[in-house]
Amino acid sequence: MSITRLARAAGSYAAACALAWTACHAIAAPAPAALRVRGDAIPEALAPAGDVARARALLVARENANCVLCHEIPDPALPFFGNVGPSLAHVATRLSPGQIRLRIVDSMRVNRDTIMPSYYRTSGFDRVAPQYRGRTVLSAQDVEDLVTYLGTLK
Ligand code: HEC
Repeated sequence: MSITRLARAAGSYAAACALAWTACHAIAAPAPAALRVRGDAIPEALAPAGDVARARALLVARENANCVLCHEIPDPALPFFGNVGPSLAHVATRLSPGQIRLRIVDSMRVNRDTIMPSYYRTSGFDRVAPQYRGRTVLSAQDVEDLVTYLGTLK
């Protein structure tokens, strides 16, 4: 797929999901407790220790996380990658676990115009189907699994 077509696909994906995000997703978790944001990070874990194997499954899960749609991830176990977002190679040398956590939870807090979905936010979405109101795309445990996995990319 060309870069332009992929960017367009990711853009419309993000736009559609911004309008009715959870309508794109079969899986939704209950609303989060208040998040403690410090600067551009969420220093405290949202759930007990993350699990790398679960994270690998999530990275390619089309119905919710689908990180590989936009990010290259240096892992031979993972298949196709998009390049709409930056490569996540060595991300753990650039960002702390807390900074990675905030970017997964709500990337818009770092860049208001980002196309990266806010995976653990419930407010600020319009036209969310009633059964999904107050629910997040990923669970707190999902977020921690991903933070733990990305922490291995040194
Ligand atoms: C629709 C495309 C898209 C998807 C899907 C997506 N991201 Fe992103 N992501 C981006 C873009 C674009 C950026 C660059 C930040 C910006 O836009 O300001 C980014 C930035 C990041 C960063 C910061 C990287 C750095 O070096 O600063 C991390 C970490 C990250 N994404 C993790 C994830 C994870 C984990 C997932 C899956 C749960 C995911 N992203 C899904 C588009 C996406």
